Amino acid sequence: MKLFALCVSLLLAISNAPSSAAPQSGKSVWLSSLDLSRMHQGWGKAHADKSVTEKAITIAGKTYNHGVGTHAASKIWIDLHGQAARFLASVGVDDNTKERKGSVEFRIIGDGKNLWRSGIMKSGEAAKSLDVDLRDVNKLVLLVTDAGDGQDFDHADWADAQFVVSGSIPVAIDPPAEPRTVLTPQPGLQPRINGARVFGMRPGSPFLFTIPATGEKPRHYEVEKLPEGLNVDPMSGQITGTIRQAGVYETIVKVSNAHGTTSRPFKIVCGDKLALTPHMGWNSWYVWETHVSDKIMRDAADAMVKTGMVDHGYMYVNIDDCWARVPGSKDSTLGGDLRDQQGRILPNKRFPDMKSLTDYIHSKGLKAGIYISPGPTTCAGYTGSYGHEETDVKQFVDWGYDFLKYDWCSYDKVAGSRSRESLEKPYKLIGDILRDQKRDIVLNLCQYGMGNVWEWGKAVGGNSWRTAGDLGGSFEGIATALFRDGFDVYSNNKLHLYGGPGGWNDPDYLLLGYLSNWNGQTVPTPLSPNEQYTHVTLWALVAAPLIFSGDMTRLDDFTLGLLTNDEVIDVDQDPLGKPGYRVWRNEDQEVWVRELEDGSKAVGLFNRGEFEASVTAKWSDLGVTGKQRVRDLWRQQDIGVFHAEYTAKVPRHGTIFLRCFPSR
Ligand code: GLA
Repeated sequence: MKLFALCVSLLLAISNAPSSAAPQSGKSVWLSSLDLSRMHQGWGKAHADKSVTEKAITIAGKTYNHGVGTHAASKIWIDLHGQAARFLASVGVDDNTKERKGSVEFRIIGDGKNLWRSGIMKSGEAAKSLDVDLRDVNKLVLLVTDAGDGQDFDHADWADAQFVVSGSIPVAIDPPAEPRTVLTPQPGLQPRINGARVFGMRPGSPFLFTIPATGEKPRHYEVEKLPEGLNVDPMSGQITGTIRQAGVYETIVKVSNAHGTTSRPFKIVCGDKLALTPHMGWNSWYVWETHVSDKIMRDAADAMVKTGMVDHGYMYVNIDDCWARVPGSKDSTLGGDLRDQQGRILPNKRFPDMKSLTDYIHSKGLKAGIYISPGPTTCAGYTGSYGHEETDVKQFVDWGYDFLKYDWCSYDKVAGSRSRESLEKPYKLIGDILRDQKRDIVLNLCQYGMGNVWEWGKAVGGNSWRTAGDLGGSFEGIATALFRDGFDVYSNNKLHLYGGPGGWNDPDYLLLGYLSNWNGQTVPTPLSPNEQYTHVTLWALVAAPLIFSGDMTRLDDFTLGLLTNDEVIDVDQDPLGKPGYRVWRNEDQEVWVRELEDGSKAVGLFNRGEFEASVTAKWSDLGVTGKQRVRDLWRQQDIGVFHAEYTAKVPRHGTIFLRCFPSR
């Protein structure tokens, strides 16, 4: 059956072949005759002989009967079987957008070599013709990028696109499958202390910090030079109490078990700064979105302990949107009075007792987070804080929350403008209120990077600020967003200059494991295994909060390996708190470096390209001299000692994460 169907489609493809523009030798095959469901793109669907909006393909006023209409970022892999001679097309931005603002770049890559690129093309610009020699090429990739300025209105046409072939006709294929290899070694039997080595708090606030440690259980915990007012539970490693006196307390944490004892300095800084290292934890949004409930939160807290994530430094269990009530809702679970007689905000029926929920989370040695908008409603239409800021913060304190995500959403309705002053106003207001509380509540600014929030987020009291839109706003677009927001938005704005102890750039959550596809299903992340390693590596290099937002109750070994590699986490949580940055790039490969407290450097070799590539970290780019001991952080293995550079083959969309120590 299958063979028959294939033959029919081959015949159709060939009989539909172009005649007017047909090259002299071989048979012609339209690109539009291939299986376009294999074309991945940032918006909409690819169409045969139509634009992405299903109109006639038109570039700068000229209409084409044949071609493929797509949308950046777009990609298709094609197997040519080494039997194609040429690829011809006219490419450009399609006229069918009202805004006429698109800008794209077309690229053609064969077996890892760049065969052709259009340069940046804008809406209204005449089509560019291409005629590319494909002899001996096996695997071809046609790409359309957003030209580095975001993908809005990037309707792109491969007009009159056709292959000249001598034998088998080209077939659209999936990109090569990547193995889900678990690189993170299992923790050893001996004790190891993990996570943050410095922790900030305010005098008089309740203190809670669970010492993250691995090694066979039972483990026994001690802390030397613990300041007055704090106690450590020897069995759970939870440090609790209150410090009245501001100061820097240099303690020594000791963990023992049947296999030995280990110790490590742990600095408690009692002053006015929280979040001395990036936050680590979990947030409900990308898996449970509008369905979050008390049970889901308790299950997440249980799983954080059961899976051992708490032993690696994960600490916050954060509810996102959808815990409050919905103005005007007829749904008895979500509707009803928004606030009580004293103006206190009321949770919806999915959260019967907020205090008991945070007590439960705290009893596990974890901290609890909540979410609201400074506007009248949240992004999903639930009650916001506008006009009730003092009361709401007081309520969050009474409930026992430790973290607040403050999401702009409907604040546009009251802001009047997006001037810097208007953008700062609600955050300064909430930051000031939070600072006056006798409870340490970490403040996460969520306003998608507006007004260069990184320049002022810390000054208004933010402990972290989202640097871009929602990383997972479009499920299919997560990989594109990862490279765009994670790599380019960060580099173009030199964000490494802004993050540091007390205030961190937040490129959004770790989108791993099982996520909502926004279509009612919870499905595996669309990121390929290599992309997932790239995601976590980059987050550690740029000192981003490590907030996982997949299903805590469905963590497989691969995902847990990504989340719990202690040498990777050590980079993220490095006490120097200097975010890394890009030091070298060519077309598709990049080298990033992060300076660490002990004088070593964390180094990321990245390959954004479609084919495996060699990437070299040169000491001159890293800012180091002399021999370096190079360690592979994901595998937790030394690779060797190198004199001036280190080169590795980096897989498609993947990474090699290194730490270079000066070697004597
Ligand atoms: C915005 C935020 C997301 C999430 C949703 C909730 O889109 O950026 O992180 O909080 O709102 O509605």
